[in-house]
Amino acid sequence: MNYPSALRAFFQTASVTALVVLSGCGGGGGATDVAAPAADPVAARAQALVLADERARLGQQIFGDPDLSEPRGTACVACHQPTQGFAGNHGSRIGVAQGSQPGALGLRNAMTNSYTGFVQPLSFITTNGTTEASGGHFWDGRADTLAQQALGPLLNPLEMNNPSRRAVVDKIAASRYAPLFRQQFGANIFNDTDAAFTQIGVAIEAFERAALQPFSSKYDAMVRGATTLTAPESRGMALFMDPNRANCAGCHRMNPGSGKPEESLFSEFTYYATGIPRNTAIPRNADPAFFDLGLCGPERTAPVLPATVAPGVTIDNFCGKFRMPTLRNVAERPVFMHNGVFNNLTDVVRFYSTRKSNPQRFYGPSGVPNDLPAKYLANIETTKAPFNRAPTAGPVLSEAEIADVVAFLHTLSDGFRAP
Ligand code: HEC
Ligand code: HEC
Repeated sequence: MNYPSALRAFFQTASVTALVVLSGCGGGGGATDVAAPAADPVAARAQALVLADERARLGQQIFGDPDLSEPRGTACVACHQPTQGFAGNHGSRIGVAQGSQPGALGLRNAMTNSYTGFVQPLSFITTNGTTEASGGHFWDGRADTLAQQALGPLLNPLEMNNPSRRAVVDKIAASRYAPLFRQQFGANIFNDTDAAFTQIGVAIEAFERAALQPFSSKYDAMVRGATTLTAPESRGMALFMDPNRANCAGCHRMNPGSGKPEESLFSEFTYYATGIPRNTAIPRNADPAFFDLGLCGPERTAPVLPATVAPGVTIDNFCGKFRMPTLRNVAERPVFMHNGVFNNLTDVVRFYSTRKSNPQRFYGPSGVPNDLPAKYLANIETTKAPFNRAPTAGPVLSEAEIADVVAFLHTLSDGFRAP
């Protein structure tokens, strides 16, 4: 797959505020060809978008560099593709990411890295006697900042598989964009492995903040008063916001009346156990005693709770909970949820609609959620709509209503152009 051209296509078609890849993310040409005059109108328009922000442009080159994996060929963009809602699992068909080594399958679905500049560090917030976990990068919140987060995949054996920080820094020092790196972080930066490694994250964060949160969807145009939704999209939005029906916005927060797209991030970045069915195709799930417990591990050590939590709350109350992603660009993603168990949005909305009325559909004959050990089943969300209905109340949404919600979700993809 030609990732650089996917990125280039994205930046040329979407009206992002950002960076353009005339200099290439791995294709020929160094940082300097950005200034070359562009003959064709598309390139000229793209060139006009070139930001003065050199640091973000450096981050973009690192993000698209296939030389930064072992063996080479797996850039960040392999699992965070512009054409797949900044997710995608590098060709894996089982819902979780395929790393640079053949057969290296991870535990989780690549999370979108769009709009992640809005995620705060992990904290525990207590209001009215209830303690909630909020923020943090990754499905389990284990990185506090985007800059920290970016360093994880480079050394993860199931992702980019570099043997050491030094190995990564040496690759950057030998890259086409090494001069830009020195210019940003000092002439001698490559002599200090730890400092150079840290700055890789800083550059990537600058790129993610500058380019991957453009607020250019149809929904955003509607919020700004520049377009209107179709009838199915509007019906879907009403269901999405109805606190007694789908209640999606009860968690995936939005504020369409504000006039400000940034008040609709479609996530409050809090943690829930929503009863996602087990994905039996994940290699580690072959062991029936293995469970991915999100905030309680295995990819992190469980966080230490602050002294201010509500009485009786312990870390056990958070086991099996995962951080809610943004739904921006969700319709472009190939698979959904932390374990990638759903591969189309209609099935996702059917899950929300019928988890209470028809649990057998998701968990087999027992109808008992099958991806949490018995001792943590009480952590599964049952108080908020649509999960608070009596099992006998039937599906929350009809099939036609589900189609409307899906139509609305399609309005959240960036790159909308008024017809
Ligand atoms: C082999 C696939 C793969 C590669 C390569 C990869 N990622 Fe990821 N990315 C993932 C997966 C899987 C997750 C979720 C992991 C988890 O939660 O445990 C993730 C999560 C993230 C997140 C968290 C988003 C959020 O909302 O918290 C960001 C940001 C991100 N990746 C950026 C990057 C950057 C930057 C690189 C390159 C340095 C990179 N990724 C390389 C698969 C990949
Ligand atoms: C109680 C809070 C809550 C409600 C209500 C809720 N969600 Fe979610 N949603 C979450 C959480 C938490 C996740 C991540 C779950 C996981 O992977 O374990 C999620 C994940 C998703 C995803 C997957 C995104 C991705 O990148 O993989 C989609 C799509 C989604 N929700 C759509 C909806 C829709 C549509 C509704 C309304 C029918 C809805 N949600 C209602 C909390 C909620």
